[in-house]
Amino acid sequence: MSAPGYENVVLVGFMGSGKSSVGRLIARTLKGSFVDTDRLVVDQTGREIPEIFAAEGESFFRREESRALRSLVGRSGLVVATGGGIVTVAENVPVLKKLGLVVWLKASEEVIWERVSRTRKRPLLQTENPRETMRALLVKRNRFYEGVAEMEIDTTLMTHAEVAERICGAMRKAEF
Ligand code: S3P
Repeated sequence: MSAPGYENVVLVGFMGSGKSSVGRLIARTLKGSFVDTDRLVVDQTGREIPEIFAAEGESFFRREESRALRSLVGRSGLVVATGGGIVTVAENVPVLKKLGLVVWLKASEEVIWERVSRTRKRPLLQTENPRETMRALLVKRNRFYEGVAEMEIDTTLMTHAEVAERICGAMRKAEF
């Protein structure tokens, strides 16, 4: 895991796109360290994500998320799973790119809904009509993911293991 290639793998994509599950698999295969920006925010603040949104609001969460992301600059051998909204903050974009190979995990609206509707842990989807909220967010966010990612994978019909293997292949070629 060194110099000529990418220092890290950075996974971006909508909630439920499999960033954490795929990220853990990649880290195991490439013998890197798995990091999750949501987890870093929880550690930094000592509070769970829904609690942060409820008590402090989204903009506070975004500031903590940007701080967590910046704290990774200079590190290598990481597989970073990011929160689905990290790409919407302009200052995060150059940081994401600087960290390493940015991969966008895409999935169909149906598959994403199937995954996110299983839990209530996503504050942004606790609305009267979460399906519609999700759809609107997806439409808004896609251009951000597209703008930052160097590689994109449509995971709709793939297992997490297959997605991880595709990324590991790209990283091996880049001498991660
Ligand atoms: C968010 C996604 C969540 C978490 C927070 C906000 C978003 O992470 O960061 O609830 O804005 O899309 P996951 O993408 O891991 O669910």
